[in-house]
Amino acid sequence: MPPVRAVQLMNKRLLGFFNWHRRRKSFHLRTVADLLVKDLKDQQPDHVAVTGDLVNISLRPEFENALEWLRTIGSGEHVSVVPGNHDAYVAMPWDETLGVWSDYMRSDTLGAAHVAPGERFPYIRIAGGIAIIGLSTGVPMPPLLASGRLGEEQRTALDKALATLGAEGYFRVVLIHHPPLAHQASRRKGLRDATELAGILERNGAELVLHGHNHRDMHETLTTRRGVTHIYGVPSASGCQGGHRPAAQYNLYDIERDGGEWRCRVTVRGLAADGRSFTPAGETTFTAPAKF
Ligand SMILES: [Fe+2]
Repeated sequence: MPPVRAVQLMNKRLLGFFNWHRRRKSFHLRTVADLLVKDLKDQQPDHVAVTGDLVNISLRPEFENALEWLRTIGSGEHVSVVPGNHDAYVAMPWDETLGVWSDYMRSDTLGAAHVAPGERFPYIRIAGGIAIIGLSTGVPMPPLLASGRLGEEQRTALDKALATLGAEGYFRVVLIHHPPLAHQASRRKGLRDATELAGILERNGAELVLHGHNHRDMHETLTTRRGVTHIYGVPSASGCQGGHRPAAQYNLYDIERDGGEWRCRVTVRGLAADGRSFTPAGETTFTAPAKF
């Protein structure tokens, strides 16, 4: 974390600052995050999704440090980011905070046709039959709360985008920081409009939902009117071995269309016990209909 002036801590940030120094500082290591990026690049993915909480208390220098790390993964064209609760810790001007990452959080040319002009979230990116839909659940909350909210405007846009993209036969990947289902997090930490989001997913389906926030390896399914939605969460990208939470992991999603069916192989890669490399930690496959 960069140097902090006392005046910047006269609010919710004070708690976050002390929490960082009390526990998180010794667990979240840049060396681990860099090792993960190196292993990830060795796998040569077409695209990388980063599901938020790149900073701690939303200070401007933190956003610039995170941008420098994002650039080690790749350009905005190849990396998609969605904000977490720590990325919207307190109310701050867009240009001084999340706007710093705007190359990583905007629609591409094809995706822009599915969102209203000027809309920041959701943003949509489309390539190779796959549509990435990036949501923001990061909104400033009172002290001691880590919850998030999509809001009605974003939910309405998501509803419409999922319906259209589904009808067009895309494999839809929703990126969201908070786990989408109400039972996946406590009220203090969860998504406030999870019930409404579940309704949208049940109505339209989505082939894959990727989230962060819980710092755990998670997989859930949701039965929808358009098949089964697979929901995956991963531990933090910077967590070391022997800490209070699981060590760093990431998932590889190998998605291909086989006639009328999508096939997705999920490979887990995790920090080895010696903390010096990432190694395979599990594999599973699911399928989804390519046309409704
Ligand atoms: Fe979070």
